Amino acid sequence: MEPIDPAFMALLDEEYEKFKVTDSHSLLKKHLTQEVFDKIKHRVTAEGATLHDCIKSGLANPDSNIGLYAADAESYILFQELFDPVIDEYHGGFEPSQFHPISDFGDPIDLGDLNELGNYVLSTRVRCARSIEGYPFNPLLSSEMYAELEQDVGYALEDLEGDLSGKYRSLKDISSEEQEELLEKHLLFKQGDRFLEAAGASRFWPEGRGIFLNENNTLVVWVNEEDHMRIISMQEGGNIGEVYERFVRAVTILGERLPFSSSERLGFLSFCPTNLGTAIRASVHIRLPLLGEDRQTLEETAAKFNLQVRGTSGEHSEAEDYVFDISNRRRLGLTEMEALKEMYDGIREIIQLEIDMEEGNSQCRKKSY
Ligand code: ADP
Ligand code: ARG
Repeated sequence: MEPIDPAFMALLDEEYEKFKVTDSHSLLKKHLTQEVFDKIKHRVTAEGATLHDCIKSGLANPDSNIGLYAADAESYILFQELFDPVIDEYHGGFEPSQFHPISDFGDPIDLGDLNELGNYVLSTRVRCARSIEGYPFNPLLSSEMYAELEQDVGYALEDLEGDLSGKYRSLKDISSEEQEELLEKHLLFKQGDRFLEAAGASRFWPEGRGIFLNENNTLVVWVNEEDHMRIISMQEGGNIGEVYERFVRAVTILGERLPFSSSERLGFLSFCPTNLGTAIRASVHIRLPLLGEDRQTLEETAAKFNLQVRGTSGEHSEAEDYVFDISNRRRLGLTEMEALKEMYDGIREIIQLEIDMEEGNSQCRKKSY
């Protein structure tokens, strides 16, 4: 690889100087110390990724939580002085000497219905990110590569059988009205995310982007949004066993048809360091009127069970009518089944807490009569 152009280096130095004095709470700000910056700023991966490609979203958005993306698989190694501490902190302890365990999806039968105690869960969703070996991530993809990737994934999605069978459609063939409808039903990715845009993930949009849906919209695959693929299983209600069973079947079949990118240490690789290892986010849409009024207790309880609270329309959104999206936070350093169990056990505790609060309220009401 060519050494970095001095004019580009001067710009990077200048941007870093400005970033250093921002009041950012991102993991990028915390771990990109002057020492680390000076050590890694001249490096370039074989495919041409620079440090700037990995940090440009965090530099442009000081309110990022993480602020860092890998421009290609090699970035995780070449810029490890920065990625390792971010990964360690986000995934709740994953030191440079640690290895992600061998994939183990377990038996979905071990997960029951989350609504056993009452109808709190409106819908359940399990998704994973997957990248295809041989292609870099968003900032380095050319328009031709987006088109090729779409074709490769499109072929793999053809001829899925039974309840998995469905249709892939390019984004450019879906009217804006229909896109809006799909978004409202939580089936389609949102567009114009400023974190992704600044990361260089929206280039050539909508080239190569699209969505696969099975007949009853319970299996969804996003193509070339944040990642080459997002494989999603979802349905109404709290039957996480059923959702996970479909997810495992789909991921297994697609993994036999496509070479998913992975590393021995970090498991499945994707664009964002939050989506490594299992790359699984298992979430519920759950209505919690009482905990919703006591956000501190909700956040503290979620954190105690390694869960993350998001708004009704996902990341960076607000809860509407007390409907929260709660999911496992850690995706690396534990098996697929362990990630699912973490979410399952935590959600049951949260439901129990909401019930206790309801009962506490009704005791108080009784006493006051
Ligand atoms: P990710 O793809 O990483 O899960 P988001 O947080 O942006 O990213 O969520 C994507 C979409 O999935 C959003 O529309 C969100 O509301 C929806 N979603 C997440 N969990 C559920 C769920 N349990 N039921 C229905 N929709 C969900
Ligand atoms: N870059 C954004 C931030 O730091 C999102 C990070 C995690 N989410 C994601 N979709 N990869 O806040």
